[in-house]
Amino acid sequence: MIEDQVLTRVRIAAIADLHYTPDSEASVVPAIHEAAREADILLICGDLTHNGLVEEAAALAECVRSVRVPILAVLGNHDFHSGQEEAIKAALRGSPLRVLDGDIAVVHGIGFAGVKGFATGFGRRVLEPWGEAVVKEFVRLAVDEALKLESALARLRTEHRVALLHYAPIVGTVEGEPPEIHPFLGSSRLEDPLNRHNVAAVFHGHAHHGQPEGTTATGIPVYNVSLPLLRRTRPEGPPCRMIELSGPTPAT
Ligand SMILES: [Fe+2]
Ligand SMILES: [Fe+2]
Repeated sequence: MIEDQVLTRVRIAAIADLHYTPDSEASVVPAIHEAAREADILLICGDLTHNGLVEEAAALAECVRSVRVPILAVLGNHDFHSGQEEAIKAALRGSPLRVLDGDIAVVHGIGFAGVKGFATGFGRRVLEPWGEAVVKEFVRLAVDEALKLESALARLRTEHRVALLHYAPIVGTVEGEPPEIHPFLGSSRLEDPLNRHNVAAVFHGHAHHGQPEGTTATGIPVYNVSLPLLRRTRPEGPPCRMIELSGPTPAT
């Protein structure tokens, strides 16, 4: 997706963990519209639905139809729960919400790369592909997601690159969650591509009780934009994280 309109400043709003169901519509839908209101683009970092049902995605598509800015999203683990992830993507097609799965988009001159990511933990204690076949398969999924991210970022030729994930790329933004579940909340394997491609900012969700922000080893800002976390840590503000990036430098 290439959007031609180039802005001097681009306001990027991000949110995650909508866990949409018809019952939660009254609280979730106003949050989406509020997040989009002051932004030039809205990012939704996974767990769009609660039960991973196509009906939930179809209803969500209707709810975002009147949003006037582009919406880029990734799926989360909840969106896979019922084995309907492809149908969920199809249900969202035709709405302003575009799901990225190793895909890129350029909006207002800013490049975006989106993948769900996966688990395996952080740092020296990251799970290695050793032993039982099921462990190797688990790690392979995480490696595949990191490769998708690497490949997507490598295809972006824009001055600024932004990544959206569901799982966390650093431990810093999951701290606050029970340490026993840290390995299931993200993977350091996602951090390396971000550092290599010097992205401007990273957004993720999934860790509802984590920290709102952290940095990668090279100082890239990482924002946990899980909606329950935003509501808890920023009760007065709009239920999103907003950053501004300068638009592309005009060619001379
Ligand atoms: Fe979630
Ligand atoms: Fe999640």
